Amino acid sequence: MDFKGKDIIAIRDFSKQEINYILNYAKKMVPFALGEKTTTILQGKVLSSLFFEPSTRTRLSFESAMNRLSGRVIGFADPTATSQKKGETLADTIRMADAYSDVIAIRHPLEGAARLAADFSEAPILNAGDGAGRHPTQCFLDLFTILTEKNKIEGQNVVLLGDLKYGRTVHSLAYALSVYGAELTFVSPKSLQMPKEIVDECKELGVTPQSTTKLDRIIKDADVLYVTRIQKERFPDAEEYNRVVGSYKINNELLKPAKEDLIIMHPLPRVTEIHPEVDKTSHAIYFKQAFNGVPIRMALLSLITGGVL
Ligand code: NCD
Repeated sequence: MDFKGKDIIAIRDFSKQEINYILNYAKKMVPFALGEKTTTILQGKVLSSLFFEPSTRTRLSFESAMNRLSGRVIGFADPTATSQKKGETLADTIRMADAYSDVIAIRHPLEGAARLAADFSEAPILNAGDGAGRHPTQCFLDLFTILTEKNKIEGQNVVLLGDLKYGRTVHSLAYALSVYGAELTFVSPKSLQMPKEIVDECKELGVTPQSTTKLDRIIKDADVLYVTRIQKERFPDAEEYNRVVGSYKINNELLKPAKEDLIIMHPLPRVTEIHPEVDKTSHAIYFKQAFNGVPIRMALLSLITGGVL
């Protein structure tokens, strides 16, 4: 399979075979991601890391991934320190990054920004999150996490919880889990339900997600509980945010009826939706999940720049 030069904009641009190939390849990257082995496969390559929105895990794991492969990183974490402040267009910023590097990771508040970037760049674009749109590299690492923890995705009862309207990670994940034939339950406040177009995509793939506002009724059947933060920055109205913030709080009491091998995931950052007491339980795998961003992004960077292990 050849991914050289391919943009990574949305998970739906990949077939199941391609996703499987990438997940298997990422497994080989783990000892390198841990620093137990070293490699020079991306020596001489440069990544532009363009973050127009706040980020901790995505940016640092992209940069760690590039460094672990012996590549180098240029870029910014704060667009106010760039010519954007002087009114430069996104297209021109992308043209420059294209001239200075071999691959570009971009996070932007506008849906469709990564797709637009790909139109102006020869170098492959990695969508590191476009507004409330998509987050494909997170989706790869979420699938990788479920696979490594549960051995298979098909048939797992997966609950997606929280802000399903504005949360880009769950938009990508709902689609991908349907490709694998997982059972899906969407739990959210009424005003933050999964967009209809995504529910329709799941149905087209043969999965009919259940929808509810009540987590306590269904927690006992879950194999995977994927928790998300209410996306405060995407609310047009602060009043509306105040109405739904704190809708769900995962704590040990709520987890009493859960299966022993339930895994709890979260793309992070968490705010108040998972109590820190849960961190000590065997259910909590969100920090491991965050680490998995490194081998996944190593695999993607390596495949699209053509420096294969
Ligand atoms: C998520 C994001 O930015 O979409 N974080 C991440 O990339 N790990 C989730 C969030 O911000 O709530």
